[in-house]
Amino acid sequence: MTRRMPLSIRRIQRQLRERTRRELARSNRRLFHEANRLKRLPLYLFTILDELKAQAAARGTDVIDLGMGNPDLPPPAHVVAELVKQARKPANHRYSRKGGDVEQKLLETIAAWYHRKFRVSLDPGAEVLPLIGSKEGISHLSLAFLNHDDIALVPNPTYPVHFNGVVMAGGILYNLPIHAETHWLPDLRAIPKSVLRQSKLLFLSYPHNPTTAVADLRFFREAVAWARAHRIMIIHDFAYSDITFDGLRAPSILEVPGAKEVCVEFHTLSKSYSLPGLRLGFGVGNRDVLASLAKTKSYIDFGIFRAVQWAAIAALAGPQQYVHRAVATYARRRDLVVDGLAGIGWHVPKPKGTFYIWTKIPLKFNALTSLEFATLLMQEAGVVVSPGSGFGEYGEGFVRFALVEPEPRLREAIKRIARVLQMED
Ligand SMILES: Cc1ncc(COP(=O)(O)O)c(C=O)c1O
Repeated sequence: MTRRMPLSIRRIQRQLRERTRRELARSNRRLFHEANRLKRLPLYLFTILDELKAQAAARGTDVIDLGMGNPDLPPPAHVVAELVKQARKPANHRYSRKGGDVEQKLLETIAAWYHRKFRVSLDPGAEVLPLIGSKEGISHLSLAFLNHDDIALVPNPTYPVHFNGVVMAGGILYNLPIHAETHWLPDLRAIPKSVLRQSKLLFLSYPHNPTTAVADLRFFREAVAWARAHRIMIIHDFAYSDITFDGLRAPSILEVPGAKEVCVEFHTLSKSYSLPGLRLGFGVGNRDVLASLAKTKSYIDFGIFRAVQWAAIAALAGPQQYVHRAVATYARRRDLVVDGLAGIGWHVPKPKGTFYIWTKIPLKFNALTSLEFATLLMQEAGVVVSPGSGFGEYGEGFVRFALVEPEPRLREAIKRIARVLQMED
């Protein structure tokens, strides 16, 4: 590959370059220029992949989409039934109001669920904040706390909202590179003192998207002690709290004594209950932080559709077998893909959590950027994966598979990828 590249790869590189040029020219021709905060955002690679996917589908390619972490499993039937039942009631179509019946019940249900899972007590009135999906809360939190001279410490690679939220809020982004050799955990002691002095927020998220790493309570204990010593807020994005394999349990950062002093944790129904379209997440932890987040939101949104809140109560208070079955499904898919890729000569690490596989680009293709390699897989195999660079510059050289297609489709994907790996150079 380093000597001469196949024609298809050179064509892809040309297409990507042309696309960037076109995009720039289009934005320069605009009558209304976007705010600088939008211009400062890194290129959203997933938009490019969406376009390429649409082009491939238009050409008649049967696309196997392992790009976005968009669960394909049908959600729990009892939750959908509750949503439908509640959507029929006219009263549920009014604005959601603080202190209303479902609003109060949802806070109590979240606190009870939290205690059952993590043995941590929460004051439902002050230490729980429902959100329109956790992404909404995570990005608004940066808006609530960052001034132009405040630093947010963000591990890299990571879920893009962690750094994009900081940029949108106009704060200073400071990357903490994370690596496989140190289990994808940031080295908090390596942060220079001058940076620490200006730092206000640290983002963490384990089980981690995209690297699939899981942190233990010991790491959280050290992180909380560090945050208390430096008066830095920790935002723990716990989207994959349930999705761990082989008997491993993912701890909540709030299990650390004293964590509520400096931490908030974000949860979502999108992954555990396969309800990404419902838009229901919640923040828990430090009451002052949550109050400021609620204040920010009060200027932006009008709360959560009441029928959705009833559905969330049904999910959290109802039977939990669904979650165990979903995790077992993801474990089977993980094994199928890890073993299948090994069978075609692509050895990838076995994830301990999340429904992703995170791996280096095969050696044969390491002259390509992750975006070029993802484009190659899409155009030659009709398989969509996420380029690692979409998760930050330290994700370059990697790709992420989301295990959100059924097993026969995953088998087909591996067959098609095998053909690409055998491409002549
Ligand atoms: C780490 C992480 N946090 C948050 C989210 C967003 O979840 P929600 O649907 O609750 O906004 C995702 C979605 O992919 C994610 O991977």
